[in-house]
Amino acid sequence: MNNNSSNSLLSYSLKIFLFLILIFTTKISLGAGEKISYPQLNWSFSGILGTFDRASQQRGLQVYKEVCSGCHGMRLLAYRNLKSIGYNDDEIKAFAAENSVNTINDDGEIVERAARPSDKFVSPYPNDKAARAANGGAYPPDLSLIVKARPDGANYLHALLTGYVDAPAEKKVPDGMYYNKYYSGNLIGMPQPLYDDGVEYADGTKATPDQMAKDVTAFLAWASEPEMEERKQLGITVILFLLVLTTLSYFAMKQIWAPVKNR
Ligand code: HEC
Repeated sequence: MNNNSSNSLLSYSLKIFLFLILIFTTKISLGAGEKISYPQLNWSFSGILGTFDRASQQRGLQVYKEVCSGCHGMRLLAYRNLKSIGYNDDEIKAFAAENSVNTINDDGEIVERAARPSDKFVSPYPNDKAARAANGGAYPPDLSLIVKARPDGANYLHALLTGYVDAPAEKKVPDGMYYNKYYSGNLIGMPQPLYDDGVEYADGTKATPDQMAKDVTAFLAWASEPEMEERKQLGITVILFLLVLTTLSYFAMKQIWAPVKNR
């Protein structure tokens, strides 16, 4: 192989590499801006370097607990998982103990006990039928995975929670239904959950519907993918490793072929 052909081989591989990077980055930016129907917010957890905002998540847990948990369960989340959003063991224990679960005692009877950190979040209704019966036939879905379960989940959820407006005059809104400009078909069985000062934040943040929607979304986004931060970190480590490895292999290749080329 003479110098010329090894150079063109190098520039070929470089072109392919750059092309792949181009495809990769376009895909990422398309993915982020695909849905234009709801406002696109700048979430701390989006992007390849995104991380969760602990303060916002903690406020979001408060919104979930004080507003949403009346109708929606989060049965995939255990109380002890709250450790990763910054709560300590005692806080988690106290938080869990506010709920009770059924258990079987030594005599085989069903009795109630306070929930423990290892228990999953207690759902508001004993079963789906009870949930429907209490909500005029509509089923309030479990929120554990909701951010992953809807396309563009975080933006959708924020939009849905802040999308309650007066229905246009020609639109009939049946009893037990509510008008929401971002819900598909516009008629939803969930009454507007967020109003000004619906909760009182301990850190003094003003509880506007927009703020509460952002916070509860940050909390639910974490619940949908608790390992997101580690996943992104691992990705970056792997890419860095591959870059170093590629550079090393390139120079090793040069060295190994040097005697052949210089003959
Ligand atoms: C009074 C009960 C009630 C409360 C409180 C409530 N919801 Fe709902 N929610 C419902 C019902 C009922 C539905 C199902 C609506 C339907 O199918 O038409 C629903 C549906 C949803 C959906 C699914 C929408 C979709 O795309 O299918 C999401 C997401 C949601 N609620 C989030 C929340 C959040 C977050 C809160 C707290 C801020 C909350 N809800 C508070 C009753 C409630």
